[in-house]
Amino acid sequence: MFTDKEKTIKIIENSIENSLTYANEGEVATYIPELANVNPKDFALSLVTVNGDEYKFGDYNKVFSIQSISKVISLIMALNDNSIDEVFEKVGTEPTKYKFSSLIPIDDMAANPFINAGAITTSSLIKGKDLDEKFNRVISKIKKLSNSNNITFLEEVYKSEMETTDINRSIAYYLRSKKIFSLDAEEVLDLYIRNCSIGMNSTELAHIGALLANGGKDLATNAEIISKDSVKIVLAQMASCGMYEESGSFLLEVGIPSKSGVSGAILGVVPGKCGIYVYSPRLDKSGNSVVGKKLLKILSNDLDLNIFL
Ligand code: DON
Repeated sequence: MFTDKEKTIKIIENSIENSLTYANEGEVATYIPELANVNPKDFALSLVTVNGDEYKFGDYNKVFSIQSISKVISLIMALNDNSIDEVFEKVGTEPTKYKFSSLIPIDDMAANPFINAGAITTSSLIKGKDLDEKFNRVISKIKKLSNSNNITFLEEVYKSEMETTDINRSIAYYLRSKKIFSLDAEEVLDLYIRNCSIGMNSTELAHIGALLANGGKDLATNAEIISKDSVKIVLAQMASCGMYEESGSFLLEVGIPSKSGVSGAILGVVPGKCGIYVYSPRLDKSGNSVVGKKLLKILSNDLDLNIFL
């Protein structure tokens, strides 16, 4: 696999064509008003191998808001800034069948780091003297993880979500009342929404996937960028909790640890092989990209990427 570049490109092009037959299914997210303005026809796929080879298709230079893919970054940073025990005494590790924004899987703490309550918790664990310093640290980290200096902040997406995010505000105050954190709930919420409003292109995100696939080691120098323990935790949580309430069926059908976001993004990581990022904004009822799911399923089969066999 990936030895014959021409053949790999052909397989990917075929897979894209097949998955795009579903391009009119599902709806673009509208609960964040700014997300409703995207072009539903936009499509991007980037695949980066652990050797650093890039395969890029569609709107791969276009910048999209990363939304819940930021939950992967927040978990990496929480694990970087705290011990593993300190993180998991504040947030659980179990999947949930409830919606990502539901208050039900919180109880004493969030079910896992990849629902909103869990990512608000991991955001509270990111260190810094104030909100700006914390967010600057997130941006610097993403630049390092993606090997890119072009990471942007999408102010309009941020404002749009801040104006409409009553449910996440409730979650932040609820977590504070449960003593999950003692910081100002508005500040923790603000950092969470800023993280969701980061703008990146598909190749930058696929690079983060490839870094995880390479055990956290830089693709060119092999220097450690993310600790091996953190990589194992992040991939286990992506596999078990990364696709909302469809995480189990997705893992069964596709067999690739993945994380989705309501912008229409899915980041997949195939350990030892590659990172894949697909963007197509029409979503199914769970909030997962329709084309993204189909494409990862086809690619998993055609490029032999299922981690279980
Ligand atoms: O909190 C929200 O609703 C969005 N900023 C992110 C949601 C998303 O992509 C799904 N989350 N797991």
